[in-house]
Amino acid sequence: MRDLLATSLTAPPRVRPLEGGLGAEMLGLQVAAVDDVAFPGLYAAFLKHQLLLFRDQSLPPAAQVVFARRFGEVQVHVMDQYHASEHPELYTLSNLDAAGQPSGRHPDRGTLAWHTDGSWRRVTGQATMLYAERIPSSGGGTEFADMYSAYDALDPAEQARLAGWRAIHNLNFSRDRRHGEEPLTEAQREAVPPVDHPIVRTHPETGRKCIFLGDHAETIQGMDYAAGRALVEALNERIVAAARIYRHRWRPGDFMVWDNRCLLHRAESYDTAREPRVIRRCTVLGEVPS
Ligand code: SIN
Repeated sequence: MRDLLATSLTAPPRVRPLEGGLGAEMLGLQVAAVDDVAFPGLYAAFLKHQLLLFRDQSLPPAAQVVFARRFGEVQVHVMDQYHASEHPELYTLSNLDAAGQPSGRHPDRGTLAWHTDGSWRRVTGQATMLYAERIPSSGGGTEFADMYSAYDALDPAEQARLAGWRAIHNLNFSRDRRHGEEPLTEAQREAVPPVDHPIVRTHPETGRKCIFLGDHAETIQGMDYAAGRALVEALNERIVAAARIYRHRWRPGDFMVWDNRCLLHRAESYDTAREPRVIRRCTVLGEVPS
């Protein structure tokens, strides 16, 4: 009896690959009930599949933060206007106005461009976790692009060339570019000066190489600004075109966790004047990329 119990407690989670082969759905698991026994299997699946989907979750805000802390230190985002009231670790993406109606205003248009969370920090994002509270009837999905496959698609000479470059990532730059009507305050700007990161990084846990760029990347260190800027734009287009992509169509109660170190993601647009979309996000801090 004791052996049977031990087997069921340590049984690996049931996993179903998502369409297209990038990411996996975790079956029969409530995130809020994950304990010390279940977590190692879940974390191994996270490293293997890069992106995990959990359907039909009952996950209040506090439980989302508790789960995120299993991965590591949870970021408190510098743009504090997005913080959920009792949980500064949660970043609320909502288009609802004070009366709870669609406002016609997108909460953060930076999310509509391919990016990786927290690349504008020295210590970048490890995992991001989204919980879907309200979802539009059409549009408003989220897409993911696999940066291992983008690296693998390059020829060896180009892999070597990119390995010698570092990109400058800058939240002030990407915020102004995509959501310039609400720029960072002076204090926010001072808190997140531009940082440089390698364009080819080695994943600290899998040891695999991947491309680390996205919309927060502004230019290339040591290069003429305009030339570096043009190169970043061209590379961002090429890596997404070469990558495996998964497009997620949300249902309320969906929870997704992904690895920012080897994926880019972007939100799809939707009718912000007619349809509600409310998503709770948190990002766990990882390491300095190398
Ligand atoms: C994000 O880019 O962090 C959020 C993505 C989404 O809203 O789908």
